[in-house]
Amino acid sequence: MDKTDFTVREMRESDLPTCLTFTQQVNWPHRMIDWQLHFSMGNGSIIEDSKGDIAGCILWWDYGSNYATVGLVVVPSHMQGNGLGRTLMDTVMSQTGARSLQLVATVAGKRLYQQCGFVERGAIYQVQGQLTTQPVPTESNLDIEAIDDTSLNDMQALDACTYGCSRQKLLTAVAQSGKGLIAYRDDKAVGFAMLRTSGHGQTLGPVLAESDNIAKALISRLLCNETGFIRFDLSENALNIKPWLESFGLTEVDKVSLMVKGAFLPSNASGVRIYSLVSQAFG
Ligand SMILES: CC(C)(COP(=O)(O)OP(=O)(O)OC[C@H]1O[C@@H](n2cnc3c(N)ncnc32)[C@H](O)[C@@H]1OP(=O)(O)O)[C@@H](O)C(=O)NCCC(=O)NCCS
Repeated sequence: MDKTDFTVREMRESDLPTCLTFTQQVNWPHRMIDWQLHFSMGNGSIIEDSKGDIAGCILWWDYGSNYATVGLVVVPSHMQGNGLGRTLMDTVMSQTGARSLQLVATVAGKRLYQQCGFVERGAIYQVQGQLTTQPVPTESNLDIEAIDDTSLNDMQALDACTYGCSRQKLLTAVAQSGKGLIAYRDDKAVGFAMLRTSGHGQTLGPVLAESDNIAKALISRLLCNETGFIRFDLSENALNIKPWLESFGLTEVDKVSLMVKGAFLPSNASGVRIYSLVSQAFG
């Protein structure tokens, strides 16, 4: 197979059914609604052969001039090992210019990303399952409110302090596609959490909070009336609350690598920590 027989072009909405079959083939849980959300927020490319058959896909999400995340990188198994993944990564690295890049790497992708200059900066824990017990809302001296148009601005400000960039467009879309809570202490926003339909059930993320107790207060209130399948993509900051989540029937099913090329922007310096990602692709 000659790599030069393939061309890269912009992803179109009409490509999504094929891209969905690619993620199904590698047993990722994405549904069409997940693909639509990631596509609508991102910059997608596909690689196709001379007949127009799609042989791989990739997306990146632009969080300003300093930072972007990369994800949904898939080359179907019968096309792998021919340099198509590298071509897709080269496309994104040229489109993203000087931005620092973050991605969450599977075992299959790690070597490719290392070759592209990414280094490992931590782990992400995929914790999920059917809720066997509903959490009782934990005690707190916080004022916890549903996210509305007013508190959306407070949430975005907190998020921007932690991520060092604006994810306003993404957070607005996630808030519109699910429900969320924001915690205030003395009228100051100290954490937020969101829950949306995705994958096998619902995904709880992002969760950003000043402390484990605030994260638990938000999560317990979001889950206290839920049944069914819940997924978290937890950062290392959440390791203290992971046993508490597991007590509701959730289990760690995967541990993947957080990889970065360039400066790593998200920081705990603002006092607010990232507990759970929106998704592995979005960060
Ligand atoms: C990861 C993936 C996109 C790589 O695509 P690909 O087209 O096979 O990659 P390439 O052929 O461009 O390989 C690029 C480099 O990575 C290496 N590589 C690719 N897959 C590898 C593997 N499974 N084990 C070891 N090295 C591998 C290649 O040897 C190549 O290095 P080289 O240039 O020194 O030979 C593809 O394996 C895939 O879709 N996997 C399933 C989905 C997945 O895990 N995606 C990553 C999500 S983060």
